Amino acid sequence: MCGIIGVVGSTDALPILLEGLERLEYRGYDSAGVALHTADGTWRARTASGTESVTALVAQCASAPPKTASGIGHTRWATHGAPGEHNAHPHVDCSGDVALIHNGIIENHHELAAQLTARGHVFTSVTDTEVLAHRIEEFLRDGLDLEAAVRATLNEVRGAFAIAVIRASEPDVIVAARRVSPLIIGTAEGQTFLASDVPAILDRADRFFVVDDDQICVLTPSGYRATDLSGAPTELTELVVDWDLEAAQKGGYDSFMIKEMHEQPDAIRATLLDRVHQGNIVFDELRITDEQLRQVDKVTLVACGSSYHTAMVAKYAIEQWARVSVEVDIASEFRYRNPVVDSTSLVIGVSQSGETIDTITALREAKSRGAMVVAVSNIVDSSMAREADAVLYTRAGLEICVVATKTVLAQIVALEMLALRLAQLRGTLSPSRIEELLGRLHEIPVLVEKTLASDDAVAVVVDQVKDTHDFFFLGRNVGYPTALEGALKLKEITYVHAEGYPAGELKHGPLALIEPGVVVIAMITNDELKEKLFANLAEVKSRGATVIAVAHENDADVAAVADFVLWVPATESLLSPLVDMVALQQFAYHLAHARGLNVDRPRNLAKTVTVE
Ligand code: M6R
Repeated sequence: MCGIIGVVGSTDALPILLEGLERLEYRGYDSAGVALHTADGTWRARTASGTESVTALVAQCASAPPKTASGIGHTRWATHGAPGEHNAHPHVDCSGDVALIHNGIIENHHELAAQLTARGHVFTSVTDTEVLAHRIEEFLRDGLDLEAAVRATLNEVRGAFAIAVIRASEPDVIVAARRVSPLIIGTAEGQTFLASDVPAILDRADRFFVVDDDQICVLTPSGYRATDLSGAPTELTELVVDWDLEAAQKGGYDSFMIKEMHEQPDAIRATLLDRVHQGNIVFDELRITDEQLRQVDKVTLVACGSSYHTAMVAKYAIEQWARVSVEVDIASEFRYRNPVVDSTSLVIGVSQSGETIDTITALREAKSRGAMVVAVSNIVDSSMAREADAVLYTRAGLEICVVATKTVLAQIVALEMLALRLAQLRGTLSPSRIEELLGRLHEIPVLVEKTLASDDAVAVVVDQVKDTHDFFFLGRNVGYPTALEGALKLKEITYVHAEGYPAGELKHGPLALIEPGVVVIAMITNDELKEKLFANLAEVKSRGATVIAVAHENDADVAAVADFVLWVPATESLLSPLVDMVALQQFAYHLAHARGLNVDRPRNLAKTVTVE
């Protein structure tokens, strides 16, 4: 997730770009850069100073040419190519005529780069983005104008993009386009803007327009013109923006939590992008050979909090699909229990921040015993990513809310892709079954969107139980970590007592706590284990508990056991946490709301825990 901004027709473009980049830093800050249209060609500045990148860019721009009317800017969240100045945007073609910024992932960049290199292009970065600049250069050489060259290039590209392109010889023109990655255009008298997000240009533009998938826009000082990939004229949808800056930063939502919940479909799409080449699952950044992966005879996952729950989901998937034995441990426990791991073990640390001290020290412990150590992190170049032998990135974008939502789903997707890769290498699933499961995974973003759309129905259920003080979450198989995650979300933002249990374990003790006034929330999204769960629910109902089921749409049997139902779309049972957890996030969010609590500021908690 990167941030992009552009302006044409201003009296002084640079301050507009720099202020916009500061407001877009939440989308990434590994590096930053600008390119300005000047009378002498394109002027470019780029820096890579981590969290200080935009500040460093401001300093570097002290040597910028006098006021210019237009330019583009970028703040980077590295996916392909490590953070570093040579990988910072804008990228240029061989001649330096074209400068380009990009948010997204070009899936077929390997094959395009090979073709371009064979035709003599010289690459100066290891990003997926640079291929676009060189391919546009070729079309310009063939005589196309910038708009036509961008269109021709995008017709060859697979993946996600929001791009903005300038050319020294076409001043006061920016060509922008979008597929999947967000892009908006803003207009004001004599100036036109583009940005990834409204806050970047909130107080600059008077009107805002949303660019849709596969729309190309030509921005000039007098406005914009939109076409589709075939060149046919299209319209952009106007966005009514009556927000102040704080509301705009939350995308119009009332909290970062709900905003980030709505970013989950895109977080999943981004994490899936570019991972399947000709049927093979590939992780570019995972520096472990296929042979090493084949030889693994035990996997240990270590993590804390929500990341621990995603690790538990991964255990079910890896064991079921790849038939390797998996242990999951709370990182702070693993570290001090003299764990049995050696050079045949694969130890995976799961952490959105990559900075949680318990998980870092657990990985150090595993490494000191000779294990192969992998970090699953949402932050490029985090401490864990640097210290591990290999890394697997989730691509959820920066998560601001203390309560993890989109990074949780992105972790499950990344880990389940890894489980499928292990199965592929070990031959434990047939190619057709792997293809089927990959198809199912790619359907998940739409199912998450459907679940998010049932928000009002969740609020109605919450209203029935909003004064409850004791909640038990029950599940079997992956429904169990889902139950744990549901209980954790509730604890974090509503401060009520909530516990997650494997449903079969209830009668071994906790059943004593069930009485009228207690609410039991049960995951009934695994068809094979449904009857067992029904039996557990009969036990709690007969003791007076109120039962809320998370169940598949059209499951007629559920009405007999549940007082209320949170309906979710059906999917493969090992993928069901990706949908069920969304319903539980909604449940926790609405309960917090009903109790007048600020979900973005849970008491006593920090986003990243760097003390033991
Ligand atoms: O950054 P990490 O994934 O390592 O963080 C682990 C936990 O601290 C984190 O998941 C915590 O439980 C969240 N607040 C859950 O919403």
